Amino acid sequence: MKSTLSLSQPAQVETECLVVVVIDRGEKDQPDVSTLTGDDAIHAAAEELIASGEVTGRSFETTLLHKPAKLKARRLLLIGGGKAKDFTGADLRRIAGAAARTLKSKALRSFVFVAPEGVDAKEAIKAIVEGVYVGNFDPDTYKSNPKESKHDQAIESLTVLAQGDQADLQKVLDDARIVGESLNFTRELVNEPSNRMTPTILADHANTMAKEVGLGCEVYGIEKLKALKMGAFLGVAQGSDEPPALIVLKYEPADAPEKPVLGLVGKAVTFDTGGISIKPADGMEKMKYDMAGGATMMGVMRAIALLKPKVKITAVICATENMPSGKAQKPGDIQTAMSGKTIEIINTDAEGRLILADGLCYARQLGCTHLIDAATLTGAVVVALGYANAGVFATDDAMFERFHKANTEAGEKFWRLPLDEEYREQIKSSIADIINSAGRWGGAITAAMFLKEFAEDTPWMHLDIAGTAWMEENKPWIAKGPSGIGLRSLIEFARGLG
Ligand code: BES
Ligand code: MN
Ligand code: ZN
Repeated sequence: MKSTLSLSQPAQVETECLVVVVIDRGEKDQPDVSTLTGDDAIHAAAEELIASGEVTGRSFETTLLHKPAKLKARRLLLIGGGKAKDFTGADLRRIAGAAARTLKSKALRSFVFVAPEGVDAKEAIKAIVEGVYVGNFDPDTYKSNPKESKHDQAIESLTVLAQGDQADLQKVLDDARIVGESLNFTRELVNEPSNRMTPTILADHANTMAKEVGLGCEVYGIEKLKALKMGAFLGVAQGSDEPPALIVLKYEPADAPEKPVLGLVGKAVTFDTGGISIKPADGMEKMKYDMAGGATMMGVMRAIALLKPKVKITAVICATENMPSGKAQKPGDIQTAMSGKTIEIINTDAEGRLILADGLCYARQLGCTHLIDAATLTGAVVVALGYANAGVFATDDAMFERFHKANTEAGEKFWRLPLDEEYREQIKSSIADIINSAGRWGGAITAAMFLKEFAEDTPWMHLDIAGTAWMEENKPWIAKGPSGIGLRSLIEFARGLG
């Protein structure tokens, strides 16, 4: 998608469609609906519709007007922003996504979005561009009839209309485009079924992307995993005929200080059957998205390489399948992790923490001073937080505060869960150092406690995105399918370091 900035007056732009946000400034029984723009021509065009009561400003309400009087635009889309007092940049992001989805469903290919009054112009441009990228994505389908391809039905050109310093605003727009493209790069990877996205194929994508944007990329196979003594990772991979891949991406700009070095560790289980502790058939097809954490880190690295913050960042992505077979690990097996800790395998379906244990350990060995992992790690985080918030755990309050600020800027929702030592009891083993599965209660927390053993004393955060990496249904602003959750916050966080 092409995205451009314009400082023109709304009434003067020629476009297929001009999009304007409408909000309600009134009280419950006394609505006071108006467009979020100071432009008289737009006021005039919308006035009658508002007076008729047809336009209420309710969130995501859309009203399309053809041939609006006094405007050069062919159509005017009024889109509801909800109550004025609640209106934030995060709302604007979703509204922009909804505008894109509404217009593409009407076979329009380009539109102009008027940055609303009352939101800082830079914040608005960022939210609109990112939001339109979110909304413009529909997961690829495999229909044999090419006419049904979703890619041919996307918005091709977006113009944002805003007022301010052109060079400043252009920079914000260019950065937002990088974020939006990286987000959809991740979502494409996550959407692919496991027969088309094996660890080897994921590693090929990492290599190609790294070449395109100028990142260091190394991919290690089984021999290297053995040399590194990654017994926890290898234990998971041994059940599959698909070879595992350890993907290392490096961003090391010359102008960055020696420290900090941010380590991003991603779970990329390209298919999780559960292994010998096999999952029920019902819903198992969804386990193709168990590589979302790894794909997110790949998208973050892509964006970082293009945004160029002055900070060193290394990503370690652990890619494997989790399969049952004659070679698969079994409950009761003992594995020795790269760090030397021994693990009693209670449940082979708790595989994410095993591969991440070695991923975290390796990131530390590579010199990372701060660690963040992202993983579709537990069903328990969905029980705890549902689909609206992802889980975040942190051993370092300052790091968490930075991440929390990044969430607000990115319009993503994460909720912090505890890591009290009391939970450590639950992962004790009578015959090894720890067990990999602590049963039903506090399952997201005990999984995080397990990972903490391998982050050791390095400041560390863990993002459990099991409930949020996949949208279960279409929303006005985003399609059913991969969401790309975490990517925008991680980019904000990383940029804040440099
Ligand atoms: N990949 C799953 C977690 C998951 C669940 C991701 C739902 C996305 C949606 C993970 O590997 C898993 O199987 N976790 C187990 C852990 C249990 C055996 C301790 C779980 O949550 O049931
Ligand atoms: Mn599992
Ligand atoms: Zn899994």
